[in-house]
Amino acid sequence: MSSSTVRLLAVGTCLFAVGAAGTTAAAAPQPAHRSAVHRVRPQTLTDLRTSMRGEAFAHASYTFYADQADREDLPDVADLYRRTAHVELHEHFHEEALLAGAIGDEIANLTFSAAGEADEASSMYPRFAREAEQDGDHEAAALFAEIAMDEAAHNAAFTAALRFLQTGQGQVPAPPRVDPVPVPAGPPQVHAARTLANLDTALHGEALAFARYTVFAEQAEQAGDQQVADLFRGTAAVELHEHFAGEAVLSGFVGDTRGNLHRTVAGETYEATVMYPAFAERAREAGDTEAAELFCDNAGDEAGHARAFEQALARLD
Ligand SMILES: [Fe+2]
Ligand SMILES: [Fe+2]
Ligand SMILES: [Fe+2]
Ligand SMILES: [Fe+2]
Repeated sequence: MSSSTVRLLAVGTCLFAVGAAGTTAAAAPQPAHRSAVHRVRPQTLTDLRTSMRGEAFAHASYTFYADQADREDLPDVADLYRRTAHVELHEHFHEEALLAGAIGDEIANLTFSAAGEADEASSMYPRFAREAEQDGDHEAAALFAEIAMDEAAHNAAFTAALRFLQTGQGQVPAPPRVDPVPVPAGPPQVHAARTLANLDTALHGEALAFARYTVFAEQAEQAGDQQVADLFRGTAAVELHEHFAGEAVLSGFVGDTRGNLHRTVAGETYEATVMYPAFAERAREAGDTEAAELFCDNAGDEAGHARAFEQALARLD
């Protein structure tokens, strides 16, 4: 790329290079793997967790926006969504999770996951089901109740795996069977504002569960424990392709590709120009230099994503 096609963009404390084709280059090369044990200030940790949630949600959204682009016979847009989803999960989410200390050994990861599943199974989803029933959204109530049962099964499987690793008793359960739910473009199929808000919370939770279990599967694979890796990967697939997908259908999450691209550009622009620069500035002020650099790197990437999606939108016109 010639220097004339690159411009430098300064946003807050971040300075990054943006290429004409929407590609970005970090100001300095970054290590492929960061320290898993790294203490950051409480506010930086909160910002890392907010970022992880956003990255996981972007990954899940783009996965289904890609499928919709395929339905509209737009393979280039589908490919852009899939490549970008990969960056959100395997670079942004993964690096933030490492810095937040959110990836432990298999015992820690299974313990954390079992607790999350227990909460969803016994508290969150039963409440969402009750509220949807009260509001007359019977289909959503049935879905929430069904997902609560799945989460109880996930809790049982993680607990059994944990027992095997800690005591040698029993075995690591086989991963669950996945029955993918297609998410075609369509309007919301619920009518209560409370149901829609609960669906939004649930969608974010499922996207986060998928992302966490994916990096936990990679950790288990690196540790040589393929059975635990398979359990995490299979469970992750249920969270995304059954739970997130089922909730996405009811909430009218996927629109036509033009609408999806508009939402995507807005989200990427917000992350590039508001969220990540603010997080970088706070981290730098707190002395969390590594986090500040990561937030700036990601701001640069998101600026590139925004530009690439804008160009895709322009080609549709
Ligand atoms: Fe990202
Ligand atoms: Fe689950
Ligand atoms: Fe789930
Ligand atoms: Fe992005």
